[in-house]
Amino acid sequence: MKSPLHTLGYKFLTRTLESDAEEKTGLSTLSRRGFLMLTASLSSCTAAAPLKPTGSSPAAPIKTASNSNYRTPPVQGAVPRNPDNNLGSDFSKNAGVTFSRVMVSGNYIALTFDDGPHPQNTPRLLDMLRARNVKATFYVIGRSVDLYPQIVRRTVAEGHEIGNHTHTHRLLSKLSDSEVRSELSRCRDAIGRAAGVQPRTMRPPYGGLLQRQREMVHAEFGYPTILWSVDPLDWKRPGPSVVTSRILSGTSAGGIVLAHDLHSQTVDAMPATIDGLLRRGFKFVTVSQLLAMKVESATAQTTVTAPTP
Ligand code: NI
Repeated sequence: MKSPLHTLGYKFLTRTLESDAEEKTGLSTLSRRGFLMLTASLSSCTAAAPLKPTGSSPAAPIKTASNSNYRTPPVQGAVPRNPDNNLGSDFSKNAGVTFSRVMVSGNYIALTFDDGPHPQNTPRLLDMLRARNVKATFYVIGRSVDLYPQIVRRTVAEGHEIGNHTHTHRLLSKLSDSEVRSELSRCRDAIGRAAGVQPRTMRPPYGGLLQRQREMVHAEFGYPTILWSVDPLDWKRPGPSVVTSRILSGTSAGGIVLAHDLHSQTVDAMPATIDGLLRRGFKFVTVSQLLAMKVESATAQTTVTAPTP
């Protein structure tokens, strides 16, 4: 099946999108208190300690807005926009089990955001990305997808890719195979219910997944494990300018940038970060698109050739 969304890296489900009414009933599966505990305890994908399981109790469905009142500030001066592209996303020929960067011919990079959706920060980020025509990849937590399905639906509608970041963000390397399967399948199904698509890649919470588990996940789900080449440690909340400078100094062609839309500081850093990367000549693609353009190392362009300001 070919469609504009197909090129962005999705498998489509045969079922149709659920109605809003059905979505709202699904919201009762996690209390607001439970979500706040989850977000408060999510420190990082790279931190050593896994999340404590959160207790959940029945609660009234949460009314969620599809967007906050935030509007992207007007751009000062001439700022480049990401070029339109219609790149394929079929990476099946590139059968790697794990990627932390991709050898590509051209200044392509993938910006990734983990641990969302967040009811305020994710829509704010989506506004920023839309203003710049930048497509990113969101590694979402299934439990949060169940809370904010409208945000995931908007994310897909605006051309971004959704990846599987498990249902409850546990450290998978400590879990049994059946628990790993459950974590991934529950997140996959939540994404399907929310947006009618299936993820094609996964990122393990804290980057923790044994080689044996990675091979199992690849064989059973078809997911390559996606790590990262640039980690600004934004979850430590060093301030937006530090997040920006770390990403700008660490990014090179074929890179995969790790960030977290859970944190407001990270989102605050994105206008300067993205504008800086665009000025350096980088072109943003989704993770699946980046994987699909993998080349042999002999022909890869591994350094940035665009002039820096
Ligand atoms: Ni994470």
